[in-house]
Amino acid sequence: MHTVLVTGGMGFIGSHTVIALHENGFEVVIADNLVNSKLEVLNRLELITGKRFKFYKVDCCDKEAMRKVFEENSIDSVIHFAGLKAVGESVQIPLEYYSNNINSMLTVLELMREYKVSKLVFSSSATVYGQSEDVPFTEESPLGFCTNPYGWTKWMIEQILRDCAKADPSLSIVLLRYFNPVGAHSSGLIGEDPKGIPNNLFPYISKVATGALERLTIHGDDYDTPDGTCLRDYIHVCDLADGHVKAIRYMDDHESGVEVFNLGTGKGTSVKEAVAAFEKACGHKIPNVIGPRRAGDLPVCYASTDKAERVLGFKATRDIDDMCASCWNWQEKNPNGLQD
Ligand code: NAD
Ligand code: UFG
Repeated sequence: MHTVLVTGGMGFIGSHTVIALHENGFEVVIADNLVNSKLEVLNRLELITGKRFKFYKVDCCDKEAMRKVFEENSIDSVIHFAGLKAVGESVQIPLEYYSNNINSMLTVLELMREYKVSKLVFSSSATVYGQSEDVPFTEESPLGFCTNPYGWTKWMIEQILRDCAKADPSLSIVLLRYFNPVGAHSSGLIGEDPKGIPNNLFPYISKVATGALERLTIHGDDYDTPDGTCLRDYIHVCDLADGHVKAIRYMDDHESGVEVFNLGTGKGTSVKEAVAAFEKACGHKIPNVIGPRRAGDLPVCYASTDKAERVLGFKATRDIDDMCASCWNWQEKNPNGLQD
């Protein structure tokens, strides 16, 4: 049985990926310090899958604590989700972002070397393409000048991984560049559960839909796009989770080295279209006002999906209506998120 260590496996994308791995016959071990997730996720995963996953509450930067995870399990591959991800916060506390995101990756890499684990999937982001307006982004698009420390941590870790793979030919690494993951598991038992007032569009719309927030501010409607609002490549988190299973299988079948894949749908959806789709899902209007542009926003950002389709056999199957319906199902069932 192939055992996957999922760091950050209690978080939004990690928890959905744990389910996909389990459904595809993989054994899963989760390591997470719960800095941005709740222990209740473990119960929810058990309700969904019938399986109590082995869980370590551990900081991935803590080498001795992480050594125990590698010592006690026969790990075949690692998916490294663990990291801090709030763009705005990373500007306020850059040191914490560089320290957490880079040290956790380095610690995992050192232990992989010590325990002869050679396969790694890393959660990267479309943010590494920087401020280019040359869409769609292909894996060959130049990496850009990131606008925030969070983005730089992804950019730097990608470089670190390339250097490590060059030095150690046994390593097989897949960099997955996610576009905009949204939606939730069809059970409504797990989903995105941000702390405080959300910054991202879908969590914000969800809170307006429940009445917890009064109205959405659309950040600018004077972009050079069909309806004036920004286009993003929203991808259902369950499609994204399936992409990780494909990435693990890819490493099982291929040579070592580093491969990069975009995970998106290849389709741009505007903020106004996203609002309209969510209104259809929840059955009522989402009050909104047009505000000024948000600093750092690209007008248009979507993926070229050719390589993921051709090489991984990955194609997203869920559309924006599925994303909104599942997001609303989760939000309605858990209006205050998860409680421990
Ligand atoms: P999330 O915050 O829900 O999940 C991350 C998990 O990692 C959390 O459970 C958190 O407690 C844990 N964690 C953080 N630092 C840790 C540490 N030092 N040790 C152990 N656990 C730690 O975020 P997510 O949306 O599921 O994102 C997962 C990964 O994907 C992140 O690396 C993120 O940067 C990346 N990513 C996310 C998006 C997005 O829009 N959600 C886009 C691109 C890339
Ligand atoms: N938006 C609003 N109002 C809001 C929130 C967002 O109009 O209250 C708009 C934004 O201006 C943008 C779109 O909705 O046009 C999407 O914004 P998000 O904040 O949801 O997502 P971003 O595309 O800005 O960023 C996301 C992740 C980053 C990641 C990036 C690229 O949050 O971590 O995608 O992958 F780096």
